[in-house]
Amino acid sequence: MSRKKGHRNSKSKGKAAARIRLANNVSADDKDKRTSGQIAVNESHETAADRHDRADDKRDDSRPIHQDDSIQSVSAQDTPTQSSPEPDASIEELTIEPRKPRKLPRWTFHSIIAVLVVALVAAGVGVWGYSHWRHIAVSVNGTEQQVRADTTLGKLAKDNRDFGAKPGRLISVSGKVLKSTGGEPVVYRVNGKKIASVDATKHKTSKENSKEATGVPANLNSVKLPENARISVKSGKDVVEKHDIQRTVVPFNVIINGHGVIQKLRQAGKDGSSEVWTGKISGERVNKGVVTQPQDVIVDTFSPKPASCKVVALTFDDGPSQYSGPILDILKEKGAKATFFDIGTGSAEYPQMEQRMVAEGHQVASHSNTHPDMKKLNAEQLRTDISQGLANIKTASGVTTKMLRAPYGNFGVDQWRYTSDLIDSNVIWTVDTQDWKKLGAPEISDAALSKAYNGAVILMHDGGGDRSQDIAALPGIIDGLRGQGYEFVTIDQLIAMNGK
Ligand code: NI
Repeated sequence: MSRKKGHRNSKSKGKAAARIRLANNVSADDKDKRTSGQIAVNESHETAADRHDRADDKRDDSRPIHQDDSIQSVSAQDTPTQSSPEPDASIEELTIEPRKPRKLPRWTFHSIIAVLVVALVAAGVGVWGYSHWRHIAVSVNGTEQQVRADTTLGKLAKDNRDFGAKPGRLISVSGKVLKSTGGEPVVYRVNGKKIASVDATKHKTSKENSKEATGVPANLNSVKLPENARISVKSGKDVVEKHDIQRTVVPFNVIINGHGVIQKLRQAGKDGSSEVWTGKISGERVNKGVVTQPQDVIVDTFSPKPASCKVVALTFDDGPSQYSGPILDILKEKGAKATFFDIGTGSAEYPQMEQRMVAEGHQVASHSNTHPDMKKLNAEQLRTDISQGLANIKTASGVTTKMLRAPYGNFGVDQWRYTSDLIDSNVIWTVDTQDWKKLGAPEISDAALSKAYNGAVILMHDGGGDRSQDIAALPGIIDGLRGQGYEFVTIDQLIAMNGK
């Protein structure tokens, strides 16, 4: 009996302990549900507890007390203390709800998590391994090689000691090496694109110096190599030390070839220079000699000789003026083309005449701006006069010309030296009608008709004084020359006919 009692005693304590354990597992949700009155569940629990008791009652007494492991394990903890009977009372007040059965066993959930983690780790290792151990083909300076897929340009360069390429050196003005690495850095290109590299000479901070120490500029390490990358590695260029330069002009020469009525510029002049360098580091002074060769003025002089036709060029100087209109009328009536060498001031004064000359198919060119003797002008005066004369024609008619007829024909080596960048030709004449002598229209006409030849350039005037004799003589000159079989061409047309 005492054993039975003890059994009951320990059983009730075990049950109490189980209840405590369950009570401690009650979640906040469960408590909430309890307060919302899930009495049915409570009753269900009580029924279960009662069933437990009844089952115990039916057990054989000989069965070991500790057969119920869950109860036993907790009783074993409680039994030695036997400290207080109170727990029974408090236990009776606890309302314990059973846990709802889980849909999945706990071990299944854990297994899924574990499998996922393992899969993720395996995938990560796989990706890393793929990029690390996989090899790709690249070519360096035309030679193909295999490298790991995650190799950077910096690592490749370092592993191969820049493929033998060296940074440029700093050299003195005389060519001595001042510093072995003071020049331009090694140049790397990937698929033709230059990879900006750190210039070792421009970084003074300790941080940059530490990058220099590795031999590989830091930015190369961030360059990943694409598959089949074409890489070129070239040595850096040497750099000459900073230096002062003392320059001396080497003047050009003027070369005038041949003889004739047309002077045509083949090449304009340009000064050259010689230099003396003084190194700022070495202090060396080196004469570099002529570093820029001068370019000579070259003028070809000739008289056009048309081969397959018989032509003359009528030319009128010193206009435009009030005499230009009647001369243009006669040329228009006769259907003859001429060339007008105009004074810039006249072009500015008679812009309508300038425009009419152009509109009616004649050629306009410059006869200076103010009709000076150009050999008496200095370089600046000459350049000013020529520039103004050309500009006034441009303003009056819109024509851009670089053809000049120097007043009095005075134009020599120095004049070409000063103005070869302003003009491209200088035109003289071969038949002087001496209209300026004002001997009369018949004399002017006789001079033209008697001296004309194929390719002749006939000089008359439409300005610079009273030109009524020219106007009177012109119809007869045109008719007479036509009678000799001549056609009238402009200077440009005559030049184009040379040898044709
Ligand atoms: Ni003149």
